[in-house]
Amino acid sequence: MADAKKDPHSATVGDLLDREQQRFRDTHPRSAAAWEAGKQHFLYGGPSHWMRRWAGGFPIYAASARGAHISDIDGHDYVDFALGDTGGMCGHAPEAVTRAALRQLQNGTTMMLPTEDSLWVGAELTRRFGLPYWTLTTSATDANRGAIRIARMITGRDKVLVFSGCYHGGVEEAHVEIRDGKIGMRNMIHPNGVDHSAVSRVVEFNDIAALEEALSHGDVACVLTEPLMTNFGMIPVAEGFHTALREITRRRGTVLIIDETHTISSGPGGYTAPHGLEPDILVAGKAIAGGIPAGIFGVSQEIAERLWKLVPMVNPRVRQSAHLGIGGTLAGNALTVATMRAVLEEVLTPANFELMIANTTRLAESAWGIIRANKLPWHVTQVGARAEIMFMPKPPCNGAEVIAGRRGDLETLLHAFYMNEGILVTPFHTMFLMCPATSPADVYRHTDVFGRFVDLVRSAGVV
Ligand SMILES: Cc1ncc(COP(=O)(O)O)c(C=O)c1O
Repeated sequence: MADAKKDPHSATVGDLLDREQQRFRDTHPRSAAAWEAGKQHFLYGGPSHWMRRWAGGFPIYAASARGAHISDIDGHDYVDFALGDTGGMCGHAPEAVTRAALRQLQNGTTMMLPTEDSLWVGAELTRRFGLPYWTLTTSATDANRGAIRIARMITGRDKVLVFSGCYHGGVEEAHVEIRDGKIGMRNMIHPNGVDHSAVSRVVEFNDIAALEEALSHGDVACVLTEPLMTNFGMIPVAEGFHTALREITRRRGTVLIIDETHTISSGPGGYTAPHGLEPDILVAGKAIAGGIPAGIFGVSQEIAERLWKLVPMVNPRVRQSAHLGIGGTLAGNALTVATMRAVLEEVLTPANFELMIANTTRLAESAWGIIRANKLPWHVTQVGARAEIMFMPKPPCNGAEVIAGRRGDLETLLHAFYMNEGILVTPFHTMFLMCPATSPADVYRHTDVFGRFVDLVRSAGVV
């Protein structure tokens, strides 16, 4: 995040933010009161600590959500481009998921037994993403943990390599970044006494030479990466990087884990299928069961065979065959499987992706129009149904460029302004996601609000 002290305009940006946060408090009295009450019983104010990070100063309390809209307890309506930071990418209360969930709730939710829906789900995951064998988990974090554990089991190596600026959930090994040339805890994650250098390697995204060097020691079990980075602003992948990544990891005997938890918004087969990526393990989660907690990971034939040698499928003579050390009593439960089937069969369909991507293009083009008309040193990145506005002249190539160029103060101001004007974006950076129910009118609302934000900051002289 840019250092506000070095910004000659920061006082003015700060003043504008004070004004927006005051406006937010004035117009959201019930959410403000609920937030104060929540602090009495929740460690960080709300049921999850993430909920405290909204730029208005406190979160809105949701009254209901449908399609691409959320209404709060103060009676405001929002166009939701945050969509639960991707968990709501199917839209809120999608009919097919609701129907499947209701049916399954009446037939038992969690039995530690497979249901026949799982047969359809497994075949469909293979059809979409190409990997033959799947496991369901309760979250993407858990899917990543499982994938890492398998990589360590079959390689006998301990280290996990990630790219600076990454986020893969509550996976300790990935909580590292490079800042001022030094390796430390990722932006804003507090140290916890664990020596992450003992279990992690971190290099800059798109840096083939650094990757080659980091894998040359022969101690890296896996590379864990998104196909392009979506958690530090959007960092596009450089030409040739994936080919090199695949070639080096194969040559060094390192497992390649592609985390599609966010980039699943690229299309029906995520980013992997249309770009011909060849992960050893593919991970996803969040939206995959329409908002019911779920994660998935799929493994290649080779990984499966290596794993089966260590942990056989079933030993008919031993009632309790060796287990994998991967958690998840509720994983793959009947409710999750039923809703995942509904998502894959009826919601995240090719036709709906077309709609979502068309609206994303609309949003990106109109934001570009405003940026260009005002000659602002900002840019918009779009990949499938996901777009990002960044206050930098061009897309960053790696985490270091984000650290050097990011305008955290302006981002917070924009987000507070959005909240006051009925727009929600993920609180961590300015990322927009479409769901099948997002309409051109929703996009126009953003265009109008973003245009007025630019007028505000220009007339205040802060850009
Ligand atoms: C790429 C990626 N992987 C994994 C996760 C973890 O997801 P969850 O918190 O749902 O476990 C996230 C969360 O933001 C993510 O962005």
